[in-house]
Amino acid sequence: MTDQSSNQMWGGRFAAGPDAIMEAINASIGFDRRMAAQDIAGSRAHAAMLAATGVISDSDAQAIAKGLITVLSEIEDGSFEFSTALEDIHMNIEARLKEIVGEPAGRLHTARSRNDQVATDFRLWVRDQLDAAETGLLALIRALLGQAEAGADWAMPGFTHLQTAQPVTWGHHMMAYVEMFGRDLSRVRDARARMNESPLGTAALAGTSFPIDREMTARALGFDRPAANSLDAVSDRDFALEFLSVASISAMHLSRMAEELVIWSSAQFRFVTLSDRFSTGSSIMPQKKNPDAAELIRAKVGRIFGANTALMMVMKGLPLAYSKDMQEDKEQVFDAADNWMLALAAMEGMVRDMTANRDSLAAAAGSGFSTATDLADWLVRVLDLPFRDAHHVTGALVALAENKGCDLPDLSLQDMQTVHGDITADVFGVLGVENSVNSRMSYGGTAPARVREQVELWKGRVT
Ligand code: ARG
Repeated sequence: MTDQSSNQMWGGRFAAGPDAIMEAINASIGFDRRMAAQDIAGSRAHAAMLAATGVISDSDAQAIAKGLITVLSEIEDGSFEFSTALEDIHMNIEARLKEIVGEPAGRLHTARSRNDQVATDFRLWVRDQLDAAETGLLALIRALLGQAEAGADWAMPGFTHLQTAQPVTWGHHMMAYVEMFGRDLSRVRDARARMNESPLGTAALAGTSFPIDREMTARALGFDRPAANSLDAVSDRDFALEFLSVASISAMHLSRMAEELVIWSSAQFRFVTLSDRFSTGSSIMPQKKNPDAAELIRAKVGRIFGANTALMMVMKGLPLAYSKDMQEDKEQVFDAADNWMLALAAMEGMVRDMTANRDSLAAAAGSGFSTATDLADWLVRVLDLPFRDAHHVTGALVALAENKGCDLPDLSLQDMQTVHGDITADVFGVLGVENSVNSRMSYGGTAPARVREQVELWKGRVT
């Protein structure tokens, strides 16, 4: 007889129960309960398959299926009592099933191990999150397209080194983020397609001697096919790592955009006004309206990338097949997923609600000698100067304007001719911001007509 306190699921060879500290370090029920619905879906598919292949009786399978539905409703309505002694979600559910349906519950674990079970549950959970990320990214892209369409021809300064470089359009800037989040979307879809294989039925590590049908369980759970190698299937966490790396890159994009919103909403820039719904006030300074959501989004990339690093470190030295180290995968992924989804939703809300301040954008677009390149291009086009010489002449004109404390269009023709005698009044036509952006018609350029083409293209992709 084993000690009464030894584990009821695997205590056969144990004379005593675990030390309290052993139980504390071993248990995952505190977090893996989030996979309850996936665990029950996996068990239902497994039981149905065991009956279809004659491994268990139909009546046992029916009792198991019914019991699992009851367990799920208990978990959903909060009446389920989770036990740390039962270690994880898999054993908590099986133990409760036993209480409800009795002996047939003991047959559910035939031709299965917690190793393929947890791999299956976790894949299903991550797959749901990839689907949620797809939805979130699509919503964010649509919000950006709304901004881009409204402001396809609003001029603003484009920056390099955060120094005014050349005028661009608001629409073009929004569309840059559409490209970034569009790549995230394609990474999400790639990851989903690659991870959609079923580990169920690979059992502990070697497969099983029972005549199971892994195609059947794979199909029932929406997988494209069963995973081909049992050792790999139970020890692979690439799907979690890919999720975390896709999330990290996306969070990095969100962070960059958040940083711009923080800068743009400052009193010094006034490029955008964030809505009250996505801003906070200060407890002491009545005038303050703070971009807290943007700042928090900017920070999220830290923990998400941290999760990616942490799981890489967990996995890097593990021999095949399962090791308990792998239980450390879930909290990282859960936390990263929660925060990625939240950041996507918050960014979507901010983008949807924010107002671009056209006047501030336009004023800034024309300052800082932003059309110097247009002037150099004019010298090349009209006076046939080599670009390097044109660059030099333009530099001298900028220095002249700087000395006079004015912008390039404010220089007189006489002033300009002191630098290069052949310059004509025609040059003033290219010094305006509107001309500058309209002229950048090269494919991928900032011209409003180009922006509108891209908006239309993307609308077709995201609806
Ligand atoms: N709670 C475990 C985990 O999350 C389930 C698998 C346990 N398997 C084992 N052989 N101890 O990884």
